[in-house]
Amino acid sequence: MMRAMDETALAHLRPPPVAAGEVVATGRTSGGLLVALEGYDETRTVATPSPYETWPDGAMHMPPLHGRLLVVVTDTAGESGVAGAVSWHAETYGPTEGSFAWNIGIGLAESCRGRGVGTASQRLLGEWLLAATPLVRVEASTDVGNVAEQRALERAGYVREGVLRQAQARADGQHDLVVYSLLRADLA
Ligand SMILES: CC(C)(COP(=O)(O)OP(=O)(O)OC[C@H]1O[C@@H](n2cnc3c(N)ncnc32)[C@H](O)[C@@H]1OP(=O)(O)O)[C@@H](O)C(=O)NCCC(=O)NCCS
Repeated sequence: MMRAMDETALAHLRPPPVAAGEVVATGRTSGGLLVALEGYDETRTVATPSPYETWPDGAMHMPPLHGRLLVVVTDTAGESGVAGAVSWHAETYGPTEGSFAWNIGIGLAESCRGRGVGTASQRLLGEWLLAATPLVRVEASTDVGNVAEQRALERAGYVREGVLRQAQARADGQHDLVVYSLLRADLA
Protein backbone atom coordinates (compact mmCIF):
# COMPACT_ATOMS: atom_id res chain seq x y z
CA MET A 1 0.00 0.00 0.00
CA MET A 2 1.40 3.43 -0.93
CA ARG A 3 0.89 6.28 1.55
CA ALA A 4 1.72 9.96 1.29
CA MET A 5 4.79 10.80 3.39
CA ASP A 6 3.40 11.88 6.73
CA GLU A 7 5.68 12.78 9.63
CA THR A 8 3.18 11.49 12.19
CA ALA A 9 3.17 8.03 10.63
CA LEU A 10 6.98 8.08 10.57
CA ALA A 11 7.43 9.25 14.17
CA HIS A 12 8.79 5.85 15.26
CA LEU A 13 11.85 6.47 13.06
CA ARG A 14 12.86 9.59 15.02
CA PRO A 15 15.30 9.66 17.91
CA PRO A 16 13.52 10.14 21.25
CA PRO A 17 12.96 13.78 22.28
CA VAL A 18 15.97 15.37 24.03
CA ALA A 19 15.38 18.06 26.66
CA ALA A 20 17.35 21.33 26.48
CA GLY A 21 20.69 20.76 28.20
CA GLU A 22 20.31 16.96 28.35
CA VAL A 23 23.60 15.28 27.35
CA VAL A 24 23.12 12.39 24.91
CA ALA A 25 26.73 11.64 23.94
CA THR A 26 30.26 12.57 25.01
CA GLY A 27 33.72 11.97 23.59
CA ARG A 28 37.19 13.48 23.39
CA THR A 29 39.23 15.06 20.65
CA SER A 30 42.75 13.76 20.08
CA GLY A 31 43.91 16.91 21.90
CA GLY A 32 41.89 16.08 25.02
CA LEU A 33 38.91 18.44 24.66
CA LEU A 34 35.66 16.99 26.02
CA VAL A 35 32.88 17.22 23.42
CA ALA A 36 29.24 16.77 24.46
CA LEU A 37 26.08 16.70 22.35
CA GLU A 38 23.26 18.33 24.31
CA GLY A 39 19.56 19.02 23.81
CA TYR A 40 19.11 22.19 21.74
CA ASP A 41 18.59 25.44 23.65
CA GLU A 42 17.83 28.59 21.61
CA THR A 43 19.24 30.77 24.40
CA ARG A 44 22.71 29.17 24.22
CA THR A 45 23.45 29.25 20.49
CA VAL A 46 26.57 30.86 18.99
CA ALA A 47 27.21 32.37 15.56
CA THR A 48 28.48 29.75 13.10
CA PRO A 49 29.10 31.73 9.90
CA SER A 50 29.44 29.63 6.76
CA PRO A 51 28.61 29.66 3.04
CA TYR A 52 25.79 27.24 3.80
CA GLU A 53 23.65 30.13 5.09
CA THR A 54 23.16 31.79 1.70
CA TRP A 55 20.09 30.41 -0.03
CA PRO A 56 18.32 31.67 -3.15
CA ASP A 57 15.09 33.63 -2.90
CA GLY A 58 11.99 31.49 -2.80
CA ALA A 59 10.13 29.11 -0.55
CA MET A 60 12.17 27.47 2.21
CA HIS A 61 11.11 23.93 3.15
CA MET A 62 12.05 22.22 6.37
CA PRO A 63 13.21 18.70 5.48
CA PRO A 64 11.26 15.79 7.00
CA LEU A 65 12.08 14.32 10.41
CA HIS A 66 14.68 16.88 11.37
CA GLY A 67 16.37 17.70 14.65
CA ARG A 68 19.46 19.35 16.14
CA LEU A 69 21.74 19.29 19.17
CA LEU A 70 24.23 21.72 20.66
CA VAL A 71 27.95 20.92 20.59
CA VAL A 72 29.43 21.86 23.98
CA VAL A 73 33.20 21.77 24.52
CA THR A 74 35.08 21.65 27.82
CA ASP A 75 38.83 22.29 27.79
CA THR A 76 41.45 20.73 30.04
CA ALA A 77 41.13 23.67 32.48
CA GLY A 78 37.41 22.91 32.89
CA GLU A 79 36.24 25.93 30.86
CA SER A 80 33.05 25.04 28.99
CA GLY A 81 31.13 26.69 26.17
CA VAL A 82 28.85 26.11 23.21
CA ALA A 83 30.96 25.49 20.08
CA GLY A 84 28.09 25.17 17.61
CA ALA A 85 25.39 22.73 16.59
CA VAL A 86 24.78 19.53 14.67
CA SER A 87 21.58 18.66 12.83
CA TRP A 88 19.94 15.80 10.95
CA HIS A 89 17.08 15.23 8.55
CA ALA A 90 15.70 12.23 6.69
CA GLU A 91 16.68 11.49 3.09
CA THR A 92 14.77 8.86 1.16
CA TYR A 93 16.14 6.42 -1.41
CA GLY A 94 12.94 4.48 -2.07
CA PRO A 95 9.32 4.20 -0.94
CA THR A 96 9.96 1.97 2.10
CA GLU A 97 11.05 2.93 5.60
CA GLY A 98 14.19 0.84 5.15
CA SER A 99 15.17 3.28 2.40
CA PHE A 100 15.42 6.26 4.77
CA ALA A 101 18.80 7.63 5.84
CA TRP A 102 19.81 10.39 8.23
CA ASN A 103 21.63 13.27 6.54
CA ILE A 104 23.65 15.26 9.07
CA GLY A 105 24.98 18.81 9.14
CA ILE A 106 27.32 20.82 11.38
CA GLY A 107 28.32 24.41 12.04
CA LEU A 108 30.99 25.50 14.52
CA ALA A 109 31.96 28.97 15.73
CA GLU A 110 35.11 30.14 13.95
CA SER A 111 37.08 30.15 17.22
CA CYS A 112 36.31 26.45 17.75
CA ARG A 113 37.41 25.14 14.36
CA GLY A 114 40.56 23.16 13.58
CA ARG A 115 40.83 21.48 17.01
CA GLY A 116 39.13 18.18 16.28
CA VAL A 117 35.67 19.22 17.49
CA GLY A 118 34.05 18.66 14.07
CA THR A 119 35.60 15.20 13.89
CA ALA A 120 34.47 14.19 17.38
CA SER A 121 30.97 15.64 17.20
CA GLN A 122 30.13 14.07 13.83
CA ARG A 123 31.31 10.68 15.07
CA LEU A 124 29.20 11.08 18.22
CA LEU A 125 26.15 12.19 16.22
CA GLY A 126 26.41 9.26 13.78
CA GLU A 127 26.78 6.73 16.59
CA TRP A 128 23.91 8.27 18.53
CA LEU A 129 21.53 8.32 15.54
CA LEU A 130 22.32 4.67 14.77
CA ALA A 131 21.80 3.69 18.42
CA ALA A 132 18.63 5.74 18.97
CA THR A 133 16.80 4.91 15.72
CA PRO A 134 16.26 1.86 13.49
CA LEU A 135 17.90 3.41 10.41
CA VAL A 136 21.14 1.83 9.20
CA ARG A 137 22.68 4.71 7.24
CA VAL A 138 23.94 8.15 8.35
CA GLU A 139 25.24 10.34 5.55
CA ALA A 140 26.86 13.73 5.22
CA SER A 141 27.40 15.82 2.13
CA THR A 142 29.59 18.84 1.67
CA ASP A 143 30.93 21.09 -1.09
CA VAL A 144 33.70 19.53 -3.17
CA GLY A 145 35.83 22.50 -2.05
CA ASN A 146 35.18 22.09 1.69
CA VAL A 147 38.38 20.23 2.52
CA ALA A 148 38.09 20.78 6.29
CA GLU A 149 34.71 19.06 6.43
CA GLN A 150 35.90 16.22 4.18
CA ARG A 151 38.94 15.64 6.42
CA ALA A 152 36.77 15.83 9.55
CA LEU A 153 34.31 13.26 8.17
CA GLU A 154 37.12 10.91 7.10
CA ARG A 155 38.75 11.14 10.52
CA ALA A 156 35.34 10.45 12.08
CA GLY A 157 35.11 7.17 10.13
CA TYR A 158 32.69 8.21 7.39
CA VAL A 159 33.41 6.63 3.99
CA ARG A 160 33.59 8.77 0.86
CA GLU A 161 31.14 7.51 -1.77
CA GLY A 162 31.24 9.99 -4.64
CA VAL A 163 30.05 13.31 -5.99
CA LEU A 164 26.41 14.39 -6.28
CA ARG A 165 26.51 16.72 -9.25
CA GLN A 166 24.68 20.07 -8.94
CA ALA A 167 22.81 18.75 -5.92
CA GLN A 168 22.49 21.90 -3.79
CA ALA A 169 21.20 25.33 -4.80
CA ARG A 170 22.60 28.28 -2.88
CA ALA A 171 22.54 32.01 -3.60
CA ASP A 172 25.66 31.71 -5.78
CA GLY A 173 24.26 28.83 -7.86
CA GLN A 174 24.22 25.04 -7.91
CA HIS A 175 26.91 23.17 -5.97
CA ASP A 176 28.42 19.72 -6.47
CA LEU A 177 28.49 17.82 -3.16
CA VAL A 178 30.75 15.00 -1.97
CA VAL A 179 28.76 12.40 -0.07
CA TYR A 180 30.03 10.30 2.85
CA SER A 181 28.32 7.64 4.95
CA LEU A 182 28.59 5.83 8.26
CA LEU A 183 26.65 2.55 8.36
CA ARG A 184 25.45 0.47 11.29
CA ALA A 185 27.62 -2.31 9.80
CA ASP A 186 30.68 -0.02 10.00
CA LEU A 187 30.33 0.06 13.81
CA ALA A 188 30.21 -3.71 14.23
C1 LIG B 1 33.77 21.95 8.66
C2 LIG B 1 33.86 21.94 10.20
C3 LIG B 1 32.59 21.36 10.78
C4 LIG B 1 35.05 21.05 10.57
O1 LIG B 1 35.15 21.02 11.98
P1 LIG B 1 36.58 21.29 12.66
O2 LIG B 1 36.44 21.09 14.11
O3 LIG B 1 37.10 22.58 12.17
O4 LIG B 1 37.39 20.07 12.01
P2 LIG B 1 38.54 19.19 12.67
O5 LIG B 1 39.45 20.07 13.45
O6 LIG B 1 37.90 18.04 13.37
O7 LIG B 1 39.25 18.61 11.36
C5 LIG B 1 39.54 19.48 10.30
C6 LIG B 1 40.51 18.80 9.37
O8 LIG B 1 40.55 19.55 8.18
C7 LIG B 1 41.85 20.09 8.03
N1 LIG B 1 41.65 21.41 7.48
C8 LIG B 1 41.12 22.49 8.07
N2 LIG B 1 41.07 23.53 7.22
C9 LIG B 1 41.59 23.06 6.06
C10 LIG B 1 41.84 23.64 4.79
N3 LIG B 1 41.50 24.90 4.54
N4 LIG B 1 42.41 22.88 3.83
C11 LIG B 1 42.73 21.60 4.10
N5 LIG B 1 42.51 20.98 5.27
C12 LIG B 1 41.96 21.73 6.23
C13 LIG B 1 42.49 20.07 9.38
O9 LIG B 1 43.89 20.04 9.27
C14 LIG B 1 41.91 18.78 9.92
O10 LIG B 1 42.53 17.66 9.34
P3 LIG B 1 43.67 16.85 10.13
O11 LIG B 1 43.05 16.44 11.42
O12 LIG B 1 43.99 15.73 9.22
O13 LIG B 1 44.79 17.80 10.33
C15 LIG B 1 34.08 23.38 10.75
O14 LIG B 1 35.27 23.87 10.28
C16 LIG B 1 32.94 24.33 10.41
O15 LIG B 1 31.98 24.47 11.17
N6 LIG B 1 33.03 25.00 9.25
C17 LIG B 1 31.98 25.92 8.79
C18 LIG B 1 30.67 25.21 8.50
C19 LIG B 1 30.83 24.04 7.57
O16 LIG B 1 31.59 24.06 6.60
N7 LIG B 1 30.06 22.99 7.88
C20 LIG B 1 30.01 21.78 7.10
C21 LIG B 1 28.94 21.97 6.11
S1 LIG B 1 28.61 20.54 5.17
